[in-house]
Amino acid sequence: MAEEILRIDNVSKEYRMDGITFRALCNVSLRIAKGEFLAIMGPSGSGKSTLMHIIGCLDRPTEGKVYIENRDISDAGDQELAKIRNTYIGFVFQQFNLLRRTSTVDNVELPLVYSRTAPGVRKSKAKSILEKVGLGDKLRNFPSQLSGGQQQRVAIARALVTDPKIILADEPTGNLDSKSGHEIMEILNQLHREGHTIVLVTHDANVARYAKRTVRMIDGTIVSKAGKT
Ligand SMILES: Nc1ncnc2c1ncn2[C@@H]1O[C@H](COP(=O)(O)OP(=O)(O)OP(=O)(O)O)[C@@H](O)[C@H]1O
Ligand SMILES: [Mg+2]
Repeated sequence: MAEEILRIDNVSKEYRMDGITFRALCNVSLRIAKGEFLAIMGPSGSGKSTLMHIIGCLDRPTEGKVYIENRDISDAGDQELAKIRNTYIGFVFQQFNLLRRTSTVDNVELPLVYSRTAPGVRKSKAKSILEKVGLGDKLRNFPSQLSGGQQQRVAIARALVTDPKIILADEPTGNLDSKSGHEIMEILNQLHREGHTIVLVTHDANVARYAKRTVRMIDGTIVSKAGKT
Protein backbone atom coordinates (compact mmCIF):
# COMPACT_ATOMS: atom_id res chain seq x y z
CA MET A 1 0.00 0.00 0.00
CA ALA A 2 1.14 3.53 -0.75
CA GLU A 3 1.91 5.88 2.09
CA GLU A 4 -0.93 5.94 4.59
CA ILE A 5 -2.74 9.18 5.42
CA LEU A 6 -5.43 7.83 7.70
CA ARG A 7 -5.89 4.73 9.79
CA ILE A 8 -8.52 3.59 12.25
CA ASP A 9 -7.86 0.57 14.43
CA ASN A 10 -10.67 -1.37 16.11
CA VAL A 11 -12.89 1.65 16.45
CA SER A 12 -16.21 1.36 18.23
CA LYS A 13 -18.74 4.11 18.76
CA GLU A 14 -21.53 3.90 21.29
CA TYR A 15 -24.41 6.33 21.64
CA ARG A 16 -26.17 6.42 24.98
CA MET A 17 -29.82 7.40 24.99
CA ASP A 18 -32.33 7.06 27.81
CA GLY A 19 -29.96 4.73 29.63
CA ILE A 20 -29.66 2.42 26.64
CA THR A 21 -26.39 2.04 24.79
CA PHE A 22 -26.45 1.68 21.03
CA ARG A 23 -23.36 0.47 19.23
CA ALA A 24 -23.19 2.36 15.91
CA LEU A 25 -19.68 1.10 15.08
CA CYS A 26 -18.24 -2.25 16.18
CA ASN A 27 -14.49 -2.81 15.88
CA VAL A 28 -14.03 -1.09 12.56
CA SER A 29 -10.52 -0.99 11.10
CA LEU A 30 -9.64 0.82 7.89
CA ARG A 31 -6.53 2.15 6.23
CA ILE A 32 -6.63 4.89 3.65
CA ALA A 33 -3.64 5.64 1.46
CA LYS A 34 -2.50 9.10 0.48
CA GLY A 35 -4.27 10.12 -2.72
CA GLU A 36 -6.81 7.33 -2.53
CA PHE A 37 -10.42 7.70 -3.77
CA LEU A 38 -12.53 5.48 -1.50
CA ALA A 39 -16.28 4.94 -1.50
CA ILE A 40 -18.23 3.73 1.54
CA MET A 41 -21.57 2.10 0.80
CA GLY A 42 -24.16 0.39 2.97
CA PRO A 43 -27.78 0.60 4.08
CA SER A 44 -29.29 3.46 6.05
CA GLY A 45 -28.27 3.29 9.70
CA SER A 46 -25.24 1.09 9.06
CA GLY A 47 -22.85 3.66 10.55
CA LYS A 48 -21.43 5.43 7.49
CA SER A 49 -21.91 8.98 8.76
CA THR A 50 -20.74 7.98 12.22
CA LEU A 51 -17.54 6.66 10.65
CA MET A 52 -17.12 9.83 8.57
CA HIS A 53 -17.51 12.01 11.66
CA ILE A 54 -14.75 10.07 13.39
CA ILE A 55 -12.47 10.16 10.34
CA GLY A 56 -13.21 13.88 10.01
CA CYS A 57 -12.36 14.67 13.65
CA LEU A 58 -15.91 15.89 14.30
CA ASP A 59 -16.40 13.15 16.85
CA ARG A 60 -14.32 10.72 18.89
CA PRO A 61 -14.55 6.95 19.07
CA THR A 62 -15.71 5.26 22.27
CA GLU A 63 -12.94 2.71 21.80
CA GLY A 64 -10.10 2.26 19.35
CA LYS A 65 -7.48 4.46 17.75
CA VAL A 66 -7.47 7.03 14.98
CA TYR A 67 -4.25 8.05 13.23
CA ILE A 68 -3.72 10.86 10.74
CA GLU A 69 -0.32 10.66 9.04
CA ASN A 70 0.70 8.15 11.72
CA ARG A 71 -0.11 10.55 14.52
CA ASP A 72 -2.44 9.16 17.16
CA ILE A 73 -5.28 11.65 17.53
CA SER A 74 -7.58 9.45 19.62
CA ASP A 75 -6.91 11.39 22.79
CA ALA A 76 -6.63 14.89 21.33
CA GLY A 77 -8.44 17.62 23.25
CA ASP A 78 -11.21 19.70 21.67
CA GLN A 79 -8.93 22.54 20.60
CA GLU A 80 -6.30 20.21 19.21
CA LEU A 81 -8.94 18.23 17.34
CA ALA A 82 -10.36 21.43 15.83
CA LYS A 83 -6.88 22.40 14.69
CA ILE A 84 -6.27 19.00 13.10
CA ARG A 85 -9.66 19.26 11.40
CA ASN A 86 -8.85 22.70 9.98
CA THR A 87 -5.50 21.53 8.68
CA TYR A 88 -6.44 18.20 7.16
CA ILE A 89 -10.14 17.91 6.50
CA GLY A 90 -12.61 19.40 4.04
CA PHE A 91 -16.19 18.24 4.64
CA VAL A 92 -18.97 18.17 2.03
CA PHE A 93 -22.45 17.25 3.25
CA GLN A 94 -25.64 16.09 1.57
CA GLN A 95 -27.52 19.22 2.71
CA PHE A 96 -24.82 21.66 1.50
CA ASN A 97 -24.91 23.46 4.91
CA LEU A 98 -24.33 26.93 3.45
CA LEU A 99 -25.20 30.10 5.36
CA ARG A 100 -28.42 31.31 3.76
CA ARG A 101 -28.00 35.05 4.17
CA THR A 102 -24.39 35.00 3.05
CA SER A 103 -23.14 35.35 -0.53
CA THR A 104 -21.34 32.62 -2.43
CA VAL A 105 -17.93 34.21 -2.05
CA ASP A 106 -18.46 34.96 1.66
CA ASN A 107 -19.58 31.37 2.33
CA VAL A 108 -16.37 30.10 0.75
CA GLU A 109 -14.22 32.60 2.66
CA LEU A 110 -15.61 31.58 6.03
CA PRO A 111 -13.10 28.83 6.94
CA LEU A 112 -10.31 31.34 6.27
CA VAL A 113 -11.93 33.82 8.65
CA TYR A 114 -11.69 31.15 11.34
CA SER A 115 -8.05 30.49 10.50
CA ARG A 116 -7.36 34.26 10.65
CA THR A 117 -6.17 34.67 7.09
CA ALA A 118 -5.80 38.30 5.91
CA PRO A 119 -8.99 39.65 4.22
CA GLY A 120 -7.37 40.36 0.84
CA VAL A 121 -5.87 36.88 0.65
CA ARG A 122 -9.20 35.35 1.68
CA LYS A 123 -11.14 37.07 -1.05
CA SER A 124 -8.75 36.23 -3.87
CA LYS A 125 -8.47 32.62 -2.76
CA ALA A 126 -12.24 32.19 -2.51
CA LYS A 127 -12.69 33.72 -5.96
CA SER A 128 -10.11 31.54 -7.64
CA ILE A 129 -11.58 28.36 -6.15
CA LEU A 130 -15.09 29.39 -7.19
CA GLU A 131 -13.79 29.92 -10.72
CA LYS A 132 -12.30 26.45 -10.61
CA VAL A 133 -15.71 24.90 -9.81
CA GLY A 134 -17.34 26.99 -12.56
CA LEU A 135 -19.03 29.62 -10.38
CA GLY A 136 -16.92 32.67 -11.19
CA ASP A 137 -20.08 34.46 -12.35
CA LYS A 138 -22.10 33.71 -9.16
CA LEU A 139 -19.91 35.31 -6.50
CA ARG A 140 -22.59 37.66 -5.15
CA ASN A 141 -25.54 35.24 -5.33
CA PHE A 142 -27.12 33.95 -2.16
CA PRO A 143 -27.66 30.18 -1.86
CA SER A 144 -31.39 30.60 -2.64
CA GLN A 145 -30.37 32.13 -5.97
CA LEU A 146 -28.41 29.02 -6.99
CA SER A 147 -29.43 25.59 -8.26
CA GLY A 148 -28.83 22.56 -6.02
CA GLY A 149 -25.80 21.52 -8.06
CA GLN A 150 -24.39 25.04 -7.85
CA GLN A 151 -24.95 25.13 -4.08
CA GLN A 152 -23.04 21.88 -3.74
CA ARG A 153 -20.22 23.35 -5.83
CA VAL A 154 -20.09 26.28 -3.39
CA ALA A 155 -19.87 23.75 -0.55
CA ILE A 156 -17.01 21.98 -2.31
CA ALA A 157 -15.24 25.30 -2.84
CA ARG A 158 -15.68 26.04 0.87
CA ALA A 159 -14.21 22.63 1.74
CA LEU A 160 -11.22 23.30 -0.54
CA VAL A 161 -10.36 26.82 0.48
CA THR A 162 -8.10 25.71 3.34
CA ASP A 163 -6.17 23.29 1.07
CA PRO A 164 -7.17 20.17 3.03
CA LYS A 165 -5.37 16.93 2.32
CA ILE A 166 -8.48 14.85 2.88
CA ILE A 167 -11.91 15.56 1.40
CA LEU A 168 -14.82 13.79 3.05
CA ALA A 169 -18.09 13.82 1.13
CA ASP A 170 -21.15 12.30 2.84
CA GLU A 171 -23.82 11.70 0.16
CA PRO A 172 -22.72 14.77 -1.83
CA THR A 173 -25.07 13.91 -4.69
CA GLY A 174 -27.97 12.70 -2.52
CA ASN A 175 -30.06 15.85 -3.08
CA LEU A 176 -29.18 16.33 -6.74
CA ASP A 177 -30.56 15.17 -10.06
CA SER A 178 -28.28 12.77 -11.90
CA LYS A 179 -26.78 15.37 -14.25
CA SER A 180 -25.80 17.72 -11.39
CA GLY A 181 -24.64 14.68 -9.45
CA HIS A 182 -22.25 13.70 -12.21
CA GLU A 183 -20.93 17.26 -12.41
CA ILE A 184 -20.14 17.11 -8.70
CA MET A 185 -18.46 13.72 -9.15
CA GLU A 186 -16.38 15.08 -12.04
CA ILE A 187 -15.12 17.82 -9.73
CA LEU A 188 -14.24 15.27 -7.03
CA ASN A 189 -12.56 13.14 -9.68
CA GLN A 190 -10.48 16.11 -10.81
CA LEU A 191 -9.44 16.74 -7.18
CA HIS A 192 -8.45 13.09 -6.91
CA ARG A 193 -6.29 13.44 -10.02
CA GLU A 194 -4.65 16.47 -8.44
CA GLY A 195 -3.62 14.28 -5.52
CA HIS A 196 -6.29 14.87 -2.87
CA THR A 197 -7.44 11.93 -0.77
CA ILE A 198 -11.19 11.49 -1.13
CA VAL A 199 -13.61 9.49 0.99
CA LEU A 200 -17.13 9.39 -0.36
CA VAL A 201 -20.32 7.97 1.17
CA THR A 202 -23.04 7.06 -1.29
CA HIS A 203 -26.06 4.81 -1.80
CA ASP A 204 -25.68 5.08 -5.55
CA ALA A 205 -23.57 2.49 -7.38
CA ASN A 206 -23.20 4.88 -10.34
CA VAL A 207 -21.64 7.42 -8.01
CA ALA A 208 -19.45 4.85 -6.23
CA ARG A 209 -18.05 3.88 -9.62
CA TYR A 210 -15.94 7.04 -9.62
CA ALA A 211 -13.99 5.69 -6.65
CA LYS A 212 -11.07 3.30 -7.03
CA ARG A 213 -12.05 1.19 -4.01
CA THR A 214 -15.35 0.52 -2.26
CA VAL A 215 -15.98 -0.77 1.25
CA ARG A 216 -19.38 -1.88 2.47
CA MET A 217 -20.84 -1.38 5.91
CA ILE A 218 -23.63 -3.34 7.58
CA ASP A 219 -24.75 -2.91 11.20
CA GLY A 220 -21.70 -0.95 12.24
CA THR A 221 -19.08 -3.21 10.70
CA ILE A 222 -17.16 -3.24 7.44
CA VAL A 223 -18.20 -6.42 5.68
CA SER A 224 -16.23 -6.36 2.47
CA LYS A 225 -13.28 -4.59 1.00
CA ALA A 226 -13.63 -4.89 -2.74
CA GLY A 227 -11.40 -3.37 -5.40
CA LYS A 228 -13.37 -1.77 -8.18
CA THR A 229 -17.18 -2.08 -7.81
N1 LIG B 1 -26.23 11.17 18.09
C1 LIG B 1 -26.80 9.95 18.06
N2 LIG B 1 -27.41 9.43 19.14
C2 LIG B 1 -27.96 8.21 19.13
N3 LIG B 1 -27.93 7.37 18.07
C3 LIG B 1 -27.30 7.81 16.96
C4 LIG B 1 -26.73 9.12 16.90
N4 LIG B 1 -26.19 9.28 15.66
C5 LIG B 1 -26.44 8.14 14.99
N5 LIG B 1 -27.10 7.25 15.77
C6 LIG B 1 -27.51 5.88 15.38
O1 LIG B 1 -26.37 5.21 14.88
C7 LIG B 1 -26.70 4.41 13.75
C8 LIG B 1 -25.81 4.79 12.59
O2 LIG B 1 -26.13 6.09 12.16
P1 LIG B 1 -25.42 6.76 10.92
O3 LIG B 1 -25.92 8.15 10.83
O4 LIG B 1 -23.96 6.58 11.04
O5 LIG B 1 -25.98 5.88 9.71
P2 LIG B 1 -25.74 6.02 8.14
O6 LIG B 1 -25.14 4.74 7.66
O7 LIG B 1 -24.99 7.27 7.86
O8 LIG B 1 -27.24 6.11 7.57
P3 LIG B 1 -27.84 6.96 6.34
O9 LIG B 1 -27.47 6.21 5.10
O10 LIG B 1 -29.31 6.94 6.59
O11 LIG B 1 -27.25 8.34 6.39
C9 LIG B 1 -28.18 4.65 13.50
O12 LIG B 1 -28.91 3.57 14.01
C10 LIG B 1 -28.49 5.92 14.26
O13 LIG B 1 -29.81 5.93 14.73
MG1 LIG C 1 -25.51 9.06 6.89
